Amino acid sequence: MNNDLIEKAKEVLNGNYQEEGFTIPSKNLYPFQWKWDSGFIALGYAHYNIEKAKKEIETILDAQWINGFIPHIVFHNDSDTYFPGPNFFKSELSPYASKKYRSSGITQPPVFGFVLEKIYDISKREKSVLEFIERQIEKVYLNHLYFYSNRDIMDEGLVYIYHNWESGTDNSPIWDGIWETINSPKYEFKRKDTDHVDASERPTKTEYNNYIHILEIAKRYNYDDKLIAENSPFLVQDPLFNSILFRSNEGLIKLFKLIGGHDEKINYLEEKQAKGIQSLNKKLFNQNLGAYTHYDLRNNKSIPLISSSSFTPMFCGAPDNEIVDVITKTLIHKFGKPENYLCSSFDPTNNNFNPSKYWRGPIWINLNWMMYQGFKRYGYDQLAKRIRNDSIELVKKNGFYEYFDPRKTKLEKRAYGGDNFSWTAALILDFILEK
Ligand code: SER
Repeated sequence: MNNDLIEKAKEVLNGNYQEEGFTIPSKNLYPFQWKWDSGFIALGYAHYNIEKAKKEIETILDAQWINGFIPHIVFHNDSDTYFPGPNFFKSELSPYASKKYRSSGITQPPVFGFVLEKIYDISKREKSVLEFIERQIEKVYLNHLYFYSNRDIMDEGLVYIYHNWESGTDNSPIWDGIWETINSPKYEFKRKDTDHVDASERPTKTEYNNYIHILEIAKRYNYDDKLIAENSPFLVQDPLFNSILFRSNEGLIKLFKLIGGHDEKINYLEEKQAKGIQSLNKKLFNQNLGAYTHYDLRNNKSIPLISSSSFTPMFCGAPDNEIVDVITKTLIHKFGKPENYLCSSFDPTNNNFNPSKYWRGPIWINLNWMMYQGFKRYGYDQLAKRIRNDSIELVKKNGFYEYFDPRKTKLEKRAYGGDNFSWTAALILDFILEK
């Protein structure tokens, strides 16, 4: 049985909980509160400590800017183990920034709509949980409104990201071609991540230099979305980011209906959802590759590369059955060889695949969780089960790491990055305990 694993997962989450009311992703490496991490973390807590689940969400939403933006990192506390910190980001440059918390000036995928829905279900539709949701849901709605008002410049129902860190898939080979179009100056900075994790498992110095460069541009424009959209060399429509937004739209619509009296908001979200799904299928589905791909808005071209993000539109119910059949074949053929665990974060048949380097190949439990939900949604139960079992086996054999090597062959090391990683623990709990 998995009782041991359940207890260990709880220990990981409890060990990363901070008395200010939030949970760090992993000691030293990520010492603050991260946006999408906190959503997955809340989902894990909901299985055994609903008060902590509520607190996690309340705390991150409390750091929302007045324009609805939610930053990807909230700097509740001081820490000298992370770069770039609050003095680099200078969120106070934006007139919209929170006066209460310092934060980054970029965002991350909007997970809270579906997280609130799941938490309510996990609580077995507990009345006090719905009352909590009623108190928080406007903030989540405002975050969606922010995206549609500022990040959908073509009025397609698709939103853009202006930094690779906003995608969550930080150093994916997806971005390599974009870096070639950017001539970043050489910055002086001292990274901290490679003090905690082997440099071979993290992005390169040159990549970090590009990451800093895009942030410097955003800061030059005081994090003004309009000016960023006009000037940032990085402007991308990401299938993962948009699928999460759409799945969260669904969550919000469902919860607003339960709460009652929100017809206008429901209509707004339904309209955006319909338009967005149509655009996602038209613009981001690549027939030749048999997969969803990213679109580079700055250079006006699609990026013909397959990653685990390519399979996430099933999570929000976007593809029709015909497309699902095609992308499932692509997944099995390229990612699903019997000698590999599912699912690599990048196409294992591509030359830039690297099974041990961050988002260039390793398996991430949150992507597996979303893919699992997606395949289940379309009735691909065998495949969903394989993804779930692979996730549990990887963690059982190796521990609650940040990312895992997809190769089943004998390896000296097969789990990488931060240890006692919160969302790995949280989502393993959900995999095991979901009804
Ligand atoms: N994930 C990024 C990092 O590695 C930032 O959010 O620091």
